[in-house]
Amino acid sequence: MEMITNVSEYEVIAKEKLPKMVYDYYASGAEDQWTLKENRNAFSKILFRPRILIDVSKIDMMTTILGFRISMPIMVAPTGMQKMAHPEGECATARAASDAGTIMILSSYAKSSVEEVASTGSGIRFFQLYVHKDRNLVAQLVRRVERAGFKAIALKADTPRLGRREADIKNRFTLPPYLTLKNFEGLDLGKIDKTDDSGLAAYVANQIDQSLSWKDVKWLQTITSLPILVKGVLTAEDTKLAIEAGAAGIIVSNHGARQLDYVPATIMALEEVVKAAQGKVPVFLDGGVRRGTDVFKALALGASGIFIGRPVVFALAVDGEAGVRKVLQMLHDELELTMALSGCRSLKEITQNHVVADWDHPRVLPRL
Ligand code: FNR
Repeated sequence: MEMITNVSEYEVIAKEKLPKMVYDYYASGAEDQWTLKENRNAFSKILFRPRILIDVSKIDMMTTILGFRISMPIMVAPTGMQKMAHPEGECATARAASDAGTIMILSSYAKSSVEEVASTGSGIRFFQLYVHKDRNLVAQLVRRVERAGFKAIALKADTPRLGRREADIKNRFTLPPYLTLKNFEGLDLGKIDKTDDSGLAAYVANQIDQSLSWKDVKWLQTITSLPILVKGVLTAEDTKLAIEAGAAGIIVSNHGARQLDYVPATIMALEEVVKAAQGKVPVFLDGGVRRGTDVFKALALGASGIFIGRPVVFALAVDGEAGVRKVLQMLHDELELTMALSGCRSLKEITQNHVVADWDHPRVLPRL
């Protein structure tokens, strides 16, 4: 295999390796895929204002997330169905994240159970929760999550229905028969069947509670003491509501551009959310992060950390645990280099004045 020198190269190789249905499921976005392109494109509209002649012989990338000390502000987003990429699936990802000293969020729709992931060894893990109509089932699952030592819940707040992913419809996306949704095994929830369109969309429409609302964020706090991150926030209005409802943090996310098309790139929505959060809770971002420079830009605009989704599944597909390890290492090294070349010795030193965005104009001078 040719040497891989950046995160995006894994996608090129994964595309050759994976069955078309699986690659399309991982790669695609909703409808016209405008937001999918924009998630990447918007990062290129932010340029650096690097500072020079600063002693950068030591760079510190450690940070603390919800009280947990981690090696870098780069974490693993929840993505479902990782065993379609590699037989070890989520367990391989968990080991790689733990070795890198960072956090992994396990998807509700994982192909490995919370217990299996916990048994891979120590590591700080969060659980992404889809709220199903059957609240007893949700409560049961949350108890298992707590028992398995997960440290927080990321509540999926932008998926009352699945977005329209036309590749999945064309491919009649369905799970291979040997893969089940492990966290729901034994619970009478039905399977993802072959249907006339996307089997996953049909499953979600059937199971997910479309009436989920802000009061349920409070309800969730009555069944667990774990901190709750609200995942899928894109506006100042919802930031305020999330904080009022008791969220411990916010993830600015458009679900990797797989839900509502023509929402802005997450990096463009970030400042609005950060401003509305007023420092009361940490704000995170995911969507289109493929370079250490992207991570730096998100931190400069006020994020406390970022998550990566697709890079993990593509690296898993190409090289299993070693691939995920390498993705995390490459992003770590790129962020470190970006910090050195921008004159930042620690994450605290990264400020808005280190970047300038297209949409800032006519602000040409820094906000000193
Ligand atoms: C996702 N995402 C997601 N989110 C979630 O909360 N639960 C899930 O089960 C999934 N599943 C999932 C599968 C696949 C294949 C993708 C690509 C994405 C969304 C994910 O957590 C994250 O928001 C995006 O993937 C981030 O964007 P990038 O890094 O993929 O560009």
